[in-house]
Amino acid sequence: DRSIKIAPSILAADFANFGAECAAVEAEGADWVHVDVMDGHFVPNITFGPATCAAIRPHIKGVMDVHLMIAPVDPFIEDFAKAGADIITAHVEAGPHIHRTLQAIRGAGAKAGVALNPATPANAIAHLLDMVDLVCVMTVNPGFGGQKFIHSQVAKVAALRQMIGDRPIHIEIDGGVDPTTAPLVAGAGADVLVAGSAVFRGGSVDNPAPYGANIRAI
Ligand code: DX5
Ligand code: ZN
Repeated sequence: DRSIKIAPSILAADFANFGAECAAVEAEGADWVHVDVMDGHFVPNITFGPATCAAIRPHIKGVMDVHLMIAPVDPFIEDFAKAGADIITAHVEAGPHIHRTLQAIRGAGAKAGVALNPATPANAIAHLLDMVDLVCVMTVNPGFGGQKFIHSQVAKVAALRQMIGDRPIHIEIDGGVDPTTAPLVAGAGADVLVAGSAVFRGGSVDNPAPYGANIRAI
């Protein structure tokens, strides 16, 4: 479906070649580039921080979509905005003051996203809908790529689509998206699909054609 955006997650890319990997997936048809920031505290894995985002930025022509799996969030918002993030997504579970966090993201000049872990109900964000540009539904427990899609989240996507109504808010799906699961969430109302392993498998910066075939297959 052409109206669905694909956002490859560079968590599945070659960490020694982020610049070239970003350029390659964009050339092969990616709509956005999804950047997973993990702190070893909010999630049991560590990736990288604002300096790496800033280094990647010049290699992305389109949208840099930064998913923060960190706690606390607020002390780092300015750094990620300065690094050139177009969208900064924070988890509703990352602290007691998500409302303030979302205000700060927009205040820093970025679009604001809120992410929900699989156990968090849709109505946890009922009072945030006028402060967000994107809702990210985690369809795996955050922390690692290549995990199995959690099917119970499809109903949550449908509930969110109904709650959002005609507000201009993206519903993004993150985790276990592949050609089998993508139609389920797209049918429930998602319009941005993050995919890591399903995009990067079989290719490399020297052989990027599989990235394009993988993107078209989703
Ligand atoms: C998981 C990350 C995802 C991850 C998705 O914590 O937020 O973006 O990279 O990877 P796949 O598509 O392999 O499930
Ligand atoms: Zn992510």
